Amino acid sequence: MKKIQFSASFEQYADKDDLDTSDKKMMDLAIEARDRSYSPYSQFSVGAAVLLENGEIITGNNQENAAYPSGMCAERVAIWTASALYPGVKVIKLVLSGKSKLRLVETPVSPCGACRQVLSEYEAKQNSDIEIYFTGETGKVIKTSSVKDLLPFSFDGSLV
Ligand code: THU
Repeated sequence: MKKIQFSASFEQYADKDDLDTSDKKMMDLAIEARDRSYSPYSQFSVGAAVLLENGEIITGNNQENAAYPSGMCAERVAIWTASALYPGVKVIKLVLSGKSKLRLVETPVSPCGACRQVLSEYEAKQNSDIEIYFTGETGKVIKTSSVKDLLPFSFDGSLV
């Protein structure tokens, strides 16, 4: 038996205003998308902005449904829209913000497990890392350099 160690490092910004100008613009677009989300059941809004290698920015937000499992997360709406509109164009980064109508969310809202798996598919397909930035309504922004740091041992298409 041998032990394998996993380690990852993350950047932390005290506030979204501390981001670079272009990343701040991405965050503002994610926030605008977040505030257009359709989330009457959870009252929890999430918005995502995806930057593509061709410079296009695609946004998405969570879309809920009376049949709860039929709803969809913001990250998947955004990255699937990007792939539908620009198939094969590399994804550089995804920026994410979450907010509740019921309480102040000051903790960074990280992608759920299913979204991590979906994001990892595109990272593997394009053979280059996707940066993920995530935050709540206020407070810290966390940046990860790769989906791999959020989902070690992801299920990979090469196994199928
Ligand atoms: N949600 C997202 O949009 N992204 C995530 O990564 C986590 C959760 C949405 C799904 C649902 O509409 C609401 O947030 C509450 O779970």
